[in-house]
Amino acid sequence: MTEITGTLVFTVLTAVLGSFQFGYDLGVINAPQQVIIAHYRYVLDMPLDDQKAINNDAIDSTEGLPTKPHFLTPTPTPLAEEEPVTSSGLVTMYWSLSVSSFAVGGMIASFFGGWLGDQLGRIKAMLVANILSLTGALLMGFSKLGPSHILIISGRGISGLYCGLISGLVPMYIGEIAPTTLRGAIGALHQLATVTGILVSQIIGLDFILGNHELWHILLGLSAVPAVLQSLMLFFCPESPRYLYIKLDEENKAKQSLKRLRGSADVTKDITEMRKEREEALSEQKVSMIQLFTNSSYRQPTLVALMLHMAQQFSGINGIFYYSTSIFQTAGISQPVYATIGVGAINTVFTVLSVFLVEKAGRRSLFLIGMSGMFVSAIFMSVGLVLLDKFTWMSYVAMVAIFLFVSFFEIGPGPIPWFMVAEFFSQGPRPAALAIAAFSNWTCNFIVALCFPYIADFCGPYVFFLFAGVVLGFTLFTFFKVPETKGKSFEEIAAEFRKKGGSAKTPKAATEMKFLGATETE
Ligand code: GLC
Repeated sequence: MTEITGTLVFTVLTAVLGSFQFGYDLGVINAPQQVIIAHYRYVLDMPLDDQKAINNDAIDSTEGLPTKPHFLTPTPTPLAEEEPVTSSGLVTMYWSLSVSSFAVGGMIASFFGGWLGDQLGRIKAMLVANILSLTGALLMGFSKLGPSHILIISGRGISGLYCGLISGLVPMYIGEIAPTTLRGAIGALHQLATVTGILVSQIIGLDFILGNHELWHILLGLSAVPAVLQSLMLFFCPESPRYLYIKLDEENKAKQSLKRLRGSADVTKDITEMRKEREEALSEQKVSMIQLFTNSSYRQPTLVALMLHMAQQFSGINGIFYYSTSIFQTAGISQPVYATIGVGAINTVFTVLSVFLVEKAGRRSLFLIGMSGMFVSAIFMSVGLVLLDKFTWMSYVAMVAIFLFVSFFEIGPGPIPWFMVAEFFSQGPRPAALAIAAFSNWTCNFIVALCFPYIADFCGPYVFFLFAGVVLGFTLFTFFKVPETKGKSFEEIAAEFRKKGGSAKTPKAATEMKFLGATETE
Protein backbone atom coordinates (compact mmCIF):
# COMPACT_ATOMS: atom_id res chain seq x y z
CA MET A 1 0.00 0.00 0.00
CA THR A 2 2.92 2.29 0.68
CA GLU A 3 3.65 2.09 -3.02
CA ILE A 4 0.57 4.14 -3.93
CA THR A 5 1.79 7.72 -4.27
CA GLY A 6 -0.08 10.84 -5.34
CA THR A 7 1.91 10.95 -8.59
CA LEU A 8 1.04 7.33 -9.39
CA VAL A 9 -2.68 7.93 -8.78
CA PHE A 10 -2.63 11.15 -10.83
CA THR A 11 -0.73 9.48 -13.67
CA VAL A 12 -2.95 6.41 -13.86
CA LEU A 13 -6.07 8.60 -13.74
CA THR A 14 -4.69 10.73 -16.55
CA ALA A 15 -3.92 7.70 -18.70
CA VAL A 16 -7.27 6.01 -18.21
CA LEU A 17 -9.04 9.20 -19.32
CA GLY A 18 -8.18 7.69 -22.72
CA SER A 19 -9.99 4.45 -21.85
CA PHE A 20 -12.88 6.58 -20.59
CA GLN A 21 -13.09 8.28 -23.99
CA PHE A 22 -13.03 4.88 -25.67
CA GLY A 23 -16.04 3.80 -23.59
CA TYR A 24 -17.81 7.12 -24.11
CA ASP A 25 -17.45 6.93 -27.90
CA LEU A 26 -18.55 3.32 -27.87
CA GLY A 27 -21.72 3.93 -25.88
CA VAL A 28 -22.70 7.41 -27.03
CA ILE A 29 -24.37 6.34 -30.26
CA ASN A 30 -26.90 4.14 -28.50
CA ALA A 31 -29.40 6.37 -26.70
CA PRO A 32 -29.88 9.13 -29.32
CA GLN A 33 -30.36 6.66 -32.21
CA GLN A 34 -33.93 7.70 -33.05
CA VAL A 35 -33.16 11.39 -32.76
CA ILE A 36 -30.15 11.22 -35.08
CA ILE A 37 -31.97 8.99 -37.55
CA ALA A 38 -34.74 11.59 -37.53
CA HIS A 39 -32.19 14.24 -38.37
CA TYR A 40 -30.72 12.11 -41.20
CA ARG A 41 -34.16 11.61 -42.68
CA TYR A 42 -34.82 15.30 -42.43
CA VAL A 43 -31.58 16.14 -44.19
CA LEU A 44 -31.78 13.42 -46.82
CA ASP A 45 -35.39 13.98 -47.75
CA MET A 46 -34.67 17.59 -48.62
CA PRO A 47 -33.11 18.90 -51.81
CA LEU A 48 -29.41 19.64 -51.27
CA ASP A 49 -29.84 23.42 -51.51
CA ASP A 50 -32.28 23.41 -48.67
CA GLN A 51 -30.03 21.49 -46.35
CA LYS A 52 -28.14 24.58 -45.23
CA ALA A 53 -31.36 26.11 -44.06
CA ILE A 54 -32.24 23.30 -41.70
CA ASN A 55 -33.76 24.49 -38.54
CA ASN A 56 -33.37 21.61 -36.18
CA ASP A 57 -36.15 22.72 -33.93
CA ALA A 58 -38.53 22.05 -36.78
CA ILE A 59 -38.08 18.29 -36.51
CA ASP A 60 -40.93 16.65 -34.67
CA SER A 61 -40.80 13.41 -32.79
CA THR A 62 -42.47 11.24 -35.43
CA GLU A 63 -39.67 11.80 -37.89
CA GLY A 64 -36.81 9.39 -38.22
CA LEU A 65 -38.97 6.32 -38.05
CA PRO A 66 -38.23 4.05 -40.97
CA THR A 67 -40.95 3.38 -43.48
CA LYS A 68 -40.14 -0.33 -43.50
CA PRO A 69 -40.72 -2.23 -40.26
CA HIS A 70 -37.34 -3.00 -38.79
CA PHE A 71 -36.63 -5.27 -35.85
CA LEU A 72 -34.37 -2.74 -34.23
CA THR A 73 -36.18 0.43 -35.20
CA PRO A 74 -39.84 -0.28 -34.51
CA THR A 75 -42.49 2.00 -35.87
CA PRO A 76 -44.87 2.92 -33.09
CA THR A 77 -46.33 6.00 -34.81
CA PRO A 78 -47.54 6.20 -38.42
CA LEU A 79 -45.45 8.29 -40.77
CA ALA A 80 -46.55 11.56 -42.23
CA GLU A 81 -48.31 10.92 -45.54
CA GLU A 82 -46.16 13.14 -47.68
CA GLU A 83 -42.92 11.61 -46.42
CA PRO A 84 -40.90 10.06 -49.26
CA VAL A 85 -40.14 6.37 -48.87
CA THR A 86 -37.08 6.27 -51.10
CA SER A 87 -34.56 7.37 -48.50
CA SER A 88 -35.43 4.78 -45.87
CA GLY A 89 -32.81 2.24 -47.04
CA LEU A 90 -30.33 5.06 -47.42
CA VAL A 91 -31.00 6.25 -43.87
CA THR A 92 -30.42 2.71 -42.52
CA MET A 93 -27.17 2.57 -44.48
CA TYR A 94 -25.93 5.94 -43.21
CA TRP A 95 -26.91 4.96 -39.69
CA SER A 96 -25.08 1.62 -39.90
CA LEU A 97 -22.05 3.46 -41.23
CA SER A 98 -22.25 6.01 -38.41
CA VAL A 99 -22.07 3.19 -35.89
CA SER A 100 -19.50 1.07 -37.68
CA SER A 101 -17.05 3.69 -39.05
CA PHE A 102 -15.85 3.94 -35.45
CA ALA A 103 -14.76 0.30 -35.53
CA VAL A 104 -13.08 0.77 -38.94
CA GLY A 105 -10.95 3.52 -37.42
CA GLY A 106 -10.19 1.33 -34.42
CA MET A 107 -9.27 -1.59 -36.65
CA ILE A 108 -6.77 0.42 -38.69
CA ALA A 109 -5.16 2.19 -35.73
CA SER A 110 -4.95 -0.85 -33.46
CA PHE A 111 -1.94 -1.96 -35.49
CA PHE A 112 -0.04 1.23 -34.68
CA GLY A 113 -0.57 1.89 -30.95
CA GLY A 114 2.56 0.07 -29.78
CA TRP A 115 4.61 1.36 -32.67
CA LEU A 116 3.68 5.00 -31.99
CA GLY A 117 4.47 4.52 -28.30
CA ASP A 118 7.92 3.23 -29.22
CA GLN A 119 8.58 6.03 -31.71
CA LEU A 120 7.50 9.01 -29.62
CA GLY A 121 7.45 7.70 -26.07
CA ARG A 122 4.23 6.89 -24.27
CA ILE A 123 3.34 10.43 -23.16
CA LYS A 124 3.90 12.13 -26.52
CA ALA A 125 2.07 9.31 -28.29
CA MET A 126 -0.98 9.85 -26.08
CA LEU A 127 -0.76 13.60 -26.73
CA VAL A 128 -0.60 13.12 -30.48
CA ALA A 129 -3.48 10.65 -30.33
CA ASN A 130 -5.59 13.33 -28.66
CA ILE A 131 -5.37 15.40 -31.85
CA LEU A 132 -7.42 12.66 -33.49
CA SER A 133 -9.86 12.59 -30.61
CA LEU A 134 -10.35 16.36 -30.77
CA THR A 135 -10.78 16.36 -34.53
CA GLY A 136 -13.39 13.62 -34.35
CA ALA A 137 -15.25 15.35 -31.52
CA LEU A 138 -15.27 18.70 -33.35
CA LEU A 139 -16.58 17.16 -36.59
CA MET A 140 -19.44 15.57 -34.68
CA GLY A 141 -20.03 18.55 -32.39
CA PHE A 142 -20.49 20.84 -35.40
CA SER A 143 -22.24 18.28 -37.58
CA LYS A 144 -25.46 20.28 -37.70
CA LEU A 145 -23.68 22.98 -39.68
CA GLY A 146 -23.02 20.76 -42.70
CA PRO A 147 -24.11 17.47 -44.21
CA SER A 148 -24.51 15.88 -40.78
CA HIS A 149 -24.42 12.24 -41.90
CA ILE A 150 -21.06 12.75 -43.63
CA LEU A 151 -19.60 14.71 -40.71
CA ILE A 152 -20.75 12.10 -38.20
CA ILE A 153 -19.50 9.13 -40.20
CA SER A 154 -16.08 10.75 -40.66
CA GLY A 155 -16.00 12.09 -37.08
CA ARG A 156 -16.71 8.65 -35.70
CA GLY A 157 -14.10 7.12 -37.98
CA ILE A 158 -11.48 9.56 -36.65
CA SER A 159 -12.54 8.96 -33.03
CA GLY A 160 -12.20 5.26 -33.81
CA LEU A 161 -8.61 5.87 -34.92
CA TYR A 162 -7.96 7.47 -31.55
CA CYS A 163 -9.56 4.58 -29.69
CA GLY A 164 -7.61 2.00 -31.68
CA LEU A 165 -4.38 3.74 -30.70
CA ILE A 166 -5.20 4.08 -27.02
CA SER A 167 -6.47 0.51 -26.69
CA GLY A 168 -2.80 -0.38 -27.16
CA LEU A 169 -1.15 2.65 -25.54
CA VAL A 170 -3.05 2.91 -22.24
CA PRO A 171 -2.72 -0.72 -21.09
CA MET A 172 0.95 -0.63 -22.09
CA TYR A 173 1.71 2.61 -20.22
CA ILE A 174 -0.16 1.80 -17.00
CA GLY A 175 1.32 -1.70 -17.02
CA GLU A 176 4.78 -0.16 -17.25
CA ILE A 177 4.44 2.38 -14.46
CA ALA A 178 2.63 0.07 -12.00
CA PRO A 179 4.58 -1.46 -9.11
CA THR A 180 4.78 -5.24 -9.64
CA THR A 181 2.45 -6.02 -6.76
CA LEU A 182 -0.29 -3.79 -8.17
CA ARG A 183 0.10 -4.57 -11.86
CA GLY A 184 -3.06 -6.69 -12.13
CA ALA A 185 -5.31 -4.26 -10.31
CA ILE A 186 -3.96 -1.20 -12.12
CA GLY A 187 -4.13 -2.98 -15.48
CA ALA A 188 -7.81 -3.73 -14.92
CA LEU A 189 -8.52 -0.01 -14.47
CA HIS A 190 -8.40 0.29 -18.27
CA GLN A 191 -11.55 -1.82 -18.63
CA LEU A 192 -13.13 -0.14 -15.59
CA ALA A 193 -12.62 3.33 -17.09
CA THR A 194 -13.97 2.02 -20.40
CA VAL A 195 -17.20 0.77 -18.86
CA THR A 196 -17.52 3.98 -16.82
CA GLY A 197 -17.29 5.92 -20.10
CA ILE A 198 -20.07 3.77 -21.55
CA LEU A 199 -22.25 4.43 -18.48
CA VAL A 200 -21.67 8.20 -18.49
CA SER A 201 -22.52 8.44 -22.21
CA GLN A 202 -25.74 6.56 -21.54
CA ILE A 203 -26.75 8.84 -18.69
CA ILE A 204 -26.09 12.13 -20.43
CA GLY A 205 -27.68 10.64 -23.54
CA LEU A 206 -31.06 10.73 -21.79
CA ASP A 207 -33.53 12.81 -23.77
CA PHE A 208 -34.00 15.41 -21.05
CA ILE A 209 -30.23 15.91 -20.80
CA LEU A 210 -28.50 15.83 -24.19
CA GLY A 211 -30.12 13.03 -26.20
CA ASN A 212 -32.75 15.26 -27.82
CA HIS A 213 -33.31 17.00 -31.16
CA GLU A 214 -31.64 20.21 -30.01
CA LEU A 215 -28.56 18.90 -28.23
CA TRP A 216 -27.55 15.50 -29.66
CA HIS A 217 -24.61 17.07 -31.51
CA ILE A 218 -23.22 18.36 -28.20
CA LEU A 219 -23.57 14.84 -26.79
CA LEU A 220 -21.44 13.47 -29.64
CA GLY A 221 -18.90 16.29 -29.41
CA LEU A 222 -18.43 16.08 -25.64
CA SER A 223 -15.55 13.62 -25.81
CA ALA A 224 -13.48 16.72 -26.60
CA VAL A 225 -13.64 17.53 -22.87
CA PRO A 226 -11.68 14.49 -21.58
CA ALA A 227 -9.36 14.86 -24.58
CA VAL A 228 -8.43 18.43 -23.62
CA LEU A 229 -8.26 17.55 -19.94
CA GLN A 230 -6.01 14.57 -20.60
CA SER A 231 -3.72 16.60 -22.87
CA LEU A 232 -3.20 19.18 -20.13
CA MET A 233 -2.68 16.59 -17.40
CA LEU A 234 -0.20 14.59 -19.49
CA PHE A 235 2.32 17.44 -19.15
CA PHE A 236 2.60 16.57 -15.46
CA CYS A 237 3.00 12.82 -15.92
CA PRO A 238 6.38 11.08 -15.84
CA GLU A 239 7.45 9.11 -18.92
CA SER A 240 7.40 5.33 -18.54
CA PRO A 241 10.62 4.26 -16.80
CA ARG A 242 10.55 0.97 -18.73
CA TYR A 243 10.43 2.83 -22.02
CA LEU A 244 13.29 5.11 -20.92
CA TYR A 245 15.47 2.27 -19.68
CA ILE A 246 14.64 -0.80 -21.78
CA LYS A 247 13.94 0.99 -25.05
CA LEU A 248 16.18 4.10 -24.87
CA ASP A 249 18.87 2.90 -22.46
CA GLU A 250 18.48 6.11 -20.42
CA GLU A 251 19.10 4.76 -16.92
CA ASN A 252 19.28 8.14 -15.18
CA LYS A 253 16.09 9.46 -16.71
CA ALA A 254 14.38 6.19 -15.81
CA LYS A 255 15.51 6.61 -12.20
CA GLN A 256 14.16 10.19 -12.07
CA SER A 257 10.84 9.02 -13.37
CA LEU A 258 10.73 6.14 -10.88
CA LYS A 259 11.54 8.43 -7.97
CA ARG A 260 8.53 10.57 -8.84
CA LEU A 261 6.23 7.56 -9.22
CA ARG A 262 7.38 5.72 -6.11
CA GLY A 263 7.92 8.79 -3.96
CA SER A 264 11.23 7.47 -2.65
CA ALA A 265 14.88 8.04 -3.47
CA ASP A 266 15.68 4.34 -3.44
CA VAL A 267 14.47 2.73 -6.64
CA THR A 268 17.01 -0.11 -6.82
CA LYS A 269 14.33 -2.80 -6.65
CA ASP A 270 12.56 -1.50 -9.77
CA ILE A 271 15.81 -0.87 -11.60
CA THR A 272 17.06 -4.40 -10.87
CA GLU A 273 13.81 -5.83 -12.21
CA MET A 274 14.07 -3.70 -15.35
CA ARG A 275 17.67 -4.70 -15.86
CA LYS A 276 16.55 -8.34 -16.00
CA GLU A 277 13.79 -7.49 -18.45
CA ARG A 278 16.26 -5.57 -20.56
CA GLU A 279 18.68 -8.49 -20.75
CA GLU A 280 15.82 -10.78 -21.63
CA ALA A 281 14.64 -8.42 -24.35
CA LEU A 282 18.13 -8.16 -25.81
CA SER A 283 18.57 -11.94 -25.90
CA GLU A 284 15.33 -12.45 -27.80
CA GLN A 285 14.76 -11.79 -31.45
CA LYS A 286 11.93 -9.58 -32.53
CA VAL A 287 9.22 -11.73 -34.09
CA SER A 288 7.16 -10.51 -37.05
CA MET A 289 3.43 -11.00 -37.42
CA ILE A 290 3.92 -13.48 -40.26
CA GLN A 291 6.24 -15.55 -38.10
CA LEU A 292 3.48 -15.91 -35.52
CA PHE A 293 1.63 -18.02 -38.07
CA THR A 294 4.52 -19.75 -39.84
CA ASN A 295 6.46 -20.82 -36.76
CA SER A 296 4.91 -23.88 -35.18
CA SER A 297 5.82 -22.79 -31.63
CA TYR A 298 3.74 -19.65 -31.92
CA ARG A 299 0.93 -20.96 -34.09
CA GLN A 300 -1.12 -22.51 -31.28
CA PRO A 301 -0.98 -19.56 -28.83
CA THR A 302 -1.61 -17.17 -31.73
CA LEU A 303 -4.69 -19.13 -32.77
CA VAL A 304 -5.96 -19.19 -29.20
CA ALA A 305 -5.31 -15.43 -28.82
CA LEU A 306 -7.29 -14.71 -31.99
CA MET A 307 -10.12 -17.00 -30.91
CA LEU A 308 -10.40 -15.36 -27.46
CA HIS A 309 -10.87 -11.94 -29.04
CA MET A 310 -13.25 -13.34 -31.67
CA ALA A 311 -15.24 -15.00 -28.89
CA GLN A 312 -15.40 -11.69 -27.02
CA GLN A 313 -16.77 -9.78 -30.00
CA PHE A 314 -18.85 -12.44 -31.79
CA SER A 315 -20.69 -13.13 -28.54
CA GLY A 316 -22.72 -10.14 -29.72
CA ILE A 317 -21.88 -7.96 -26.71
CA ASN A 318 -21.55 -4.81 -28.77
CA GLY A 319 -24.85 -5.59 -30.45
CA ILE A 320 -26.19 -4.87 -26.97
CA PHE A 321 -23.99 -1.82 -26.38
CA TYR A 322 -24.71 -0.18 -29.73
CA TYR A 323 -28.36 -1.14 -30.01
CA SER A 324 -29.76 -1.97 -26.57
CA THR A 325 -32.23 0.92 -26.57
CA SER A 326 -33.81 -0.47 -29.74
CA ILE A 327 -33.73 -4.01 -28.40
CA PHE A 328 -35.48 -2.95 -25.20
CA GLN A 329 -38.01 -1.03 -27.26
CA THR A 330 -38.65 -4.15 -29.33
CA ALA A 331 -39.02 -6.11 -26.10
CA GLY A 332 -41.81 -3.78 -25.09
CA ILE A 333 -39.98 -2.05 -22.21
CA SER A 334 -41.68 1.30 -21.69
CA GLN A 335 -38.54 3.24 -20.72
CA PRO A 336 -35.88 1.63 -22.93
CA VAL A 337 -33.28 4.32 -22.26
CA TYR A 338 -33.38 3.64 -18.52
CA ALA A 339 -32.98 -0.07 -19.17
CA THR A 340 -29.91 0.81 -21.24
CA ILE A 341 -28.53 2.74 -18.29
CA GLY A 342 -29.24 -0.33 -16.17
CA VAL A 343 -27.06 -2.32 -18.57
CA GLY A 344 -24.26 0.21 -18.17
CA ALA A 345 -24.52 0.15 -14.38
CA ILE A 346 -24.52 -3.64 -14.15
CA ASN A 347 -21.64 -3.73 -16.59
CA THR A 348 -19.63 -1.45 -14.29
CA VAL A 349 -20.47 -3.40 -11.12
CA PHE A 350 -19.45 -6.73 -12.63
CA THR A 351 -16.21 -5.29 -13.99
CA VAL A 352 -15.31 -4.28 -10.45
CA LEU A 353 -16.17 -7.81 -9.31
CA SER A 354 -13.99 -9.41 -11.97
CA VAL A 355 -11.02 -7.28 -10.86
CA PHE A 356 -11.17 -9.13 -7.54
CA LEU A 357 -12.10 -12.53 -8.94
CA VAL A 358 -9.50 -12.83 -11.64
CA GLU A 359 -6.54 -13.40 -9.32
CA LYS A 360 -8.50 -15.91 -7.23
CA ALA A 361 -10.32 -18.08 -9.77
CA GLY A 362 -8.32 -18.89 -12.91
CA ARG A 363 -8.60 -17.02 -16.22
CA ARG A 364 -9.73 -20.14 -18.09
CA SER A 365 -12.44 -21.02 -15.55
CA LEU A 366 -13.80 -17.47 -15.42
CA PHE A 367 -13.85 -17.30 -19.21
CA LEU A 368 -15.73 -20.61 -19.36
CA ILE A 369 -18.22 -19.60 -16.65
CA GLY A 370 -18.80 -16.27 -18.40
CA MET A 371 -19.34 -17.84 -21.82
CA SER A 372 -21.65 -20.56 -20.47
CA GLY A 373 -23.72 -17.94 -18.65
CA MET A 374 -23.90 -15.84 -21.83
CA PHE A 375 -25.08 -18.90 -23.76
CA VAL A 376 -27.99 -19.53 -21.37
CA SER A 377 -28.86 -15.81 -21.19
CA ALA A 378 -28.92 -15.52 -25.00
CA ILE A 379 -31.38 -18.42 -25.20
CA PHE A 380 -33.65 -16.73 -22.63
CA MET A 381 -33.34 -13.42 -24.48
CA SER A 382 -34.56 -14.99 -27.69
CA VAL A 383 -37.31 -16.98 -25.99
CA GLY A 384 -38.47 -13.75 -24.34
CA LEU A 385 -38.55 -11.88 -27.64
CA VAL A 386 -40.21 -14.73 -29.56
CA LEU A 387 -43.00 -15.22 -27.03
CA LEU A 388 -43.57 -11.51 -26.48
CA ASP A 389 -46.71 -11.53 -28.66
CA LYS A 390 -48.30 -14.25 -26.52
CA PHE A 391 -47.30 -13.10 -23.04
CA THR A 392 -46.49 -9.47 -22.34
CA TRP A 393 -44.53 -10.39 -19.19
CA MET A 394 -41.96 -11.98 -21.51
CA SER A 395 -40.55 -8.47 -21.93
CA TYR A 396 -39.20 -8.80 -18.38
CA VAL A 397 -37.65 -12.17 -19.20
CA ALA A 398 -35.88 -10.55 -22.15
CA MET A 399 -34.74 -7.62 -20.03
CA VAL A 400 -33.39 -9.74 -17.17
CA ALA A 401 -31.68 -11.99 -19.74
CA ILE A 402 -29.91 -8.97 -21.24
CA PHE A 403 -28.73 -7.89 -17.78
CA LEU A 404 -27.41 -11.40 -17.10
CA PHE A 405 -25.76 -11.60 -20.52
CA VAL A 406 -23.80 -8.42 -19.78
CA SER A 407 -22.92 -9.51 -16.22
CA PHE A 408 -21.51 -12.83 -17.41
CA PHE A 409 -19.57 -11.00 -20.12
CA GLU A 410 -17.77 -8.81 -17.61
CA ILE A 411 -16.98 -11.75 -15.31
CA GLY A 412 -14.70 -13.28 -17.91
CA PRO A 413 -14.96 -12.71 -21.68
CA GLY A 414 -14.81 -8.88 -21.30
CA PRO A 415 -11.57 -8.21 -19.44
CA ILE A 416 -9.67 -11.50 -19.83
CA PRO A 417 -8.65 -11.53 -23.53
CA TRP A 418 -7.05 -8.09 -23.19
CA PHE A 419 -4.44 -9.21 -20.66
CA MET A 420 -4.32 -12.99 -21.15
CA VAL A 421 -2.76 -12.71 -24.61
CA ALA A 422 0.24 -10.91 -23.09
CA GLU A 423 0.69 -13.88 -20.75
CA PHE A 424 0.90 -16.33 -23.68
CA PHE A 425 4.02 -14.76 -25.19
CA SER A 426 7.53 -13.83 -24.11
CA GLN A 427 9.14 -10.42 -24.78
CA GLY A 428 10.12 -11.25 -28.41
CA PRO A 429 6.78 -12.17 -29.98
CA ARG A 430 4.59 -10.18 -27.53
CA PRO A 431 4.27 -6.87 -29.43
CA ALA A 432 3.35 -8.61 -32.72
CA ALA A 433 0.92 -10.91 -30.92
CA LEU A 434 -0.77 -8.02 -29.11
CA ALA A 435 -1.14 -6.05 -32.35
CA ILE A 436 -2.73 -9.02 -34.11
CA ALA A 437 -5.04 -9.66 -31.16
CA ALA A 438 -6.19 -6.03 -31.03
CA PHE A 439 -6.71 -6.03 -34.80
CA SER A 440 -8.82 -9.17 -34.60
CA ASN A 441 -10.86 -7.62 -31.77
CA TRP A 442 -11.60 -4.44 -33.72
CA THR A 443 -12.28 -6.30 -36.97
CA CYS A 444 -14.91 -8.46 -35.29
CA ASN A 445 -16.28 -5.37 -33.52
CA PHE A 446 -16.67 -3.75 -36.96
CA ILE A 447 -18.39 -6.79 -38.43
CA VAL A 448 -20.90 -6.89 -35.57
CA ALA A 449 -21.53 -3.13 -35.69
CA LEU A 450 -22.15 -3.18 -39.42
CA CYS A 451 -24.12 -6.40 -39.71
CA PHE A 452 -26.12 -6.47 -36.49
CA PRO A 453 -29.08 -4.38 -37.75
CA TYR A 454 -29.26 -6.44 -40.94
CA ILE A 455 -28.97 -9.79 -39.14
CA ALA A 456 -31.52 -8.61 -36.58
CA ASP A 457 -33.84 -7.53 -39.36
CA PHE A 458 -33.43 -10.89 -41.10
CA CYS A 459 -33.74 -13.12 -38.01
CA GLY A 460 -36.22 -10.96 -36.13
CA PRO A 461 -36.64 -12.03 -32.51
CA TYR A 462 -34.61 -15.19 -33.19
CA VAL A 463 -31.38 -13.17 -33.52
CA PHE A 464 -30.00 -14.13 -30.12
CA PHE A 465 -30.41 -17.85 -30.87
CA LEU A 466 -27.77 -17.23 -33.51
CA PHE A 467 -25.43 -15.59 -31.00
CA ALA A 468 -26.15 -18.42 -28.52
CA GLY A 469 -24.92 -20.91 -31.13
CA VAL A 470 -21.77 -18.88 -31.74
CA VAL A 471 -21.11 -18.57 -27.99
CA LEU A 472 -21.55 -22.32 -27.56
CA GLY A 473 -18.98 -22.98 -30.30
CA PHE A 474 -16.43 -20.68 -28.64
CA THR A 475 -17.16 -22.20 -25.22
CA LEU A 476 -16.29 -25.65 -26.55
CA PHE A 477 -13.14 -24.29 -28.18
CA THR A 478 -12.09 -22.72 -24.87
CA PHE A 479 -12.76 -25.95 -23.02
CA PHE A 480 -10.54 -28.00 -25.32
CA LYS A 481 -7.85 -25.55 -26.38
CA VAL A 482 -7.30 -22.75 -23.85
CA PRO A 483 -4.81 -23.47 -21.05
CA GLU A 484 -4.89 -21.92 -17.57
CA THR A 485 -2.25 -19.19 -17.15
CA LYS A 486 -2.88 -18.02 -13.58
CA GLY A 487 0.22 -18.31 -11.43
CA LYS A 488 2.17 -20.08 -14.21
CA SER A 489 5.52 -19.11 -15.59
CA PHE A 490 5.96 -18.52 -19.29
CA GLU A 491 7.67 -21.92 -19.71
CA GLU A 492 4.79 -23.71 -18.00
CA ILE A 493 2.25 -21.94 -20.22
CA ALA A 494 4.23 -22.92 -23.33
CA ALA A 495 4.25 -26.54 -22.12
CA GLU A 496 0.46 -26.40 -21.68
CA PHE A 497 0.10 -25.24 -25.27
CA ARG A 498 2.24 -28.12 -26.50
CA LYS A 499 0.02 -30.53 -24.56
CA LYS A 500 -3.10 -29.05 -26.13
CA GLY A 501 -1.91 -29.64 -29.67
CA GLY A 502 1.03 -27.29 -30.25
CA SER A 503 4.51 -28.18 -31.34
CA ALA A 504 7.32 -30.31 -30.04
CA LYS A 505 9.84 -27.46 -29.99
CA THR A 506 10.30 -25.14 -27.05
CA PRO A 507 9.58 -21.49 -27.83
CA LYS A 508 13.05 -20.55 -26.57
CA ALA A 509 14.69 -22.77 -29.17
CA ALA A 510 12.43 -21.31 -31.77
CA THR A 511 13.30 -17.72 -30.94
CA GLU A 512 16.97 -18.51 -31.21
CA MET A 513 16.56 -19.88 -34.72
CA LYS A 514 17.49 -17.39 -37.38
CA PHE A 515 14.36 -17.58 -39.44
CA LEU A 516 12.83 -14.88 -41.50
CA GLY A 517 9.43 -15.85 -42.75
CA ALA A 518 10.57 -19.48 -42.96
CA THR A 519 7.65 -21.90 -43.19
CA GLU A 520 8.01 -24.57 -40.58
CA THR A 521 6.20 -27.80 -40.25
CA GLU A 522 6.10 -30.04 -37.23
C1 GLC B 1 -14.52 -4.84 -23.88
C2 GLC B 1 -14.65 -5.01 -25.36
C3 GLC B 1 -15.46 -3.89 -25.95
C4 GLC B 1 -16.79 -3.86 -25.24
C5 GLC B 1 -16.58 -3.62 -23.77
C6 GLC B 1 -17.88 -3.62 -23.03
O1 GLC B 1 -13.65 -3.78 -23.59
O2 GLC B 1 -13.40 -5.07 -25.98
O3 GLC B 1 -15.63 -4.09 -27.33
O4 GLC B 1 -17.61 -2.87 -25.77
O5 GLC B 1 -15.76 -4.63 -23.25
O6 GLC B 1 -17.72 -3.48 -21.67
